[in-house]
Amino acid sequence: MIKIATTEIETRPRPRPAVLLIDPYVPGQSSAPGAAKIFKLSANETPLGPSPRAREALRAFADHLQDYPDGAATALREAIGARHGFDPARIVCGNGSDEIIHLLAAAYIGPGDEGIFTQHGFLVYKIAILAAGGVPIVADETNLTADVDRILAKVGPRTKIVFLANPNNPTGTYLPVAEIKRLARSLPSHVLLVLDAAYAEYVTRPDYSSGEELVSNSENVVMTRTFSKIYGLAGIRLGWCYAPPDVCGAINRIRGPFNTNGGAIAAGVAALDDKGHIEKAVAHNATWLAWLAHEIAALGIKITPSAGNFLLLHFGGETQARAADRFLLGRGLILRAVGAYGLPHCLRLTVGTEEANRLVVAALKDFVNFESRARA
Ligand SMILES: Cc1ncc(COP(=O)(O)O)c(C=O)c1O
Repeated sequence: MIKIATTEIETRPRPRPAVLLIDPYVPGQSSAPGAAKIFKLSANETPLGPSPRAREALRAFADHLQDYPDGAATALREAIGARHGFDPARIVCGNGSDEIIHLLAAAYIGPGDEGIFTQHGFLVYKIAILAAGGVPIVADETNLTADVDRILAKVGPRTKIVFLANPNNPTGTYLPVAEIKRLARSLPSHVLLVLDAAYAEYVTRPDYSSGEELVSNSENVVMTRTFSKIYGLAGIRLGWCYAPPDVCGAINRIRGPFNTNGGAIAAGVAALDDKGHIEKAVAHNATWLAWLAHEIAALGIKITPSAGNFLLLHFGGETQARAADRFLLGRGLILRAVGAYGLPHCLRLTVGTEEANRLVVAALKDFVNFESRARA
């Protein structure tokens, strides 16, 4: 009989130690107790909502809830391919781009391997790297912007992936295409460069590219995209990547066989068909992003210029940022605290409806006045 020392007996199942190193992702708040009307400006959702065509497709899908979806999401990959001019065979869809990020990490990072992301980069990268048993490596930014040289300085023999959000959430900063190309060119060919272009549709800068031409012409660059932002479909969870064939092959092996649900496929296809809706959303964002940036800066609150659908507001310190958050919350305006991103003195504001945007500026004005009276 095998004897087991009492100290070796586990009293309950234990996850891998790396799992317990993960700080669970905490989404922005979505309630403002006591406020008569709530404006959720904490999750970079679109104030325009989804295309009516997507709503209709989802309603029609309700008659087919008993059926498994097409595990290959063929119709959706074809629709994405047609919209963007990509080979559908090089597209993989998933339950939000979060899932795609996790799949990439799971496929390419083994125990002890390193994944790089930037100082204020999207938090899911760290979670995905740790979940895969890897080591998260942080590359410092310069002026809240990813810095190619600092990323390259972190590349070592164990590096397997570089995750880069372009534009980044929560800073809103971006790297011009020339810098992205330099990064891709300078990385060793065995390192996968993941360009997370969740906010690409919003970017109006002429020197920006989501990086798709790099994906078309290389073996180690992947672009991830989402239907959660400009398409207004965050609730049904839909994301995708455009990737080299080998990368698609790898993540297709490990993904759940029906990871993209039927409602998401139907709504995604319909949403892609409504170009006018996206054009409206781009125009709304361009107008109100500029207006918010101008009005908020005029109040003496520093903002980081943003290429996305949100703005990073800088306060005098963590205490003041918290006070502003409470003040706005009292008026039903929910912003995103970004302490978890190493920015405790900041709040992130999503561009909202005209009503919400005007209310935010009015509330910030009152807050600034209130603070200066309190100091006097
Ligand atoms: C940079 C970035 N990447 C990915 C995502 C995740 O998007 P999805 O809803 O498709 O999982 C977000 C969502 O906030 C994001 O900001």
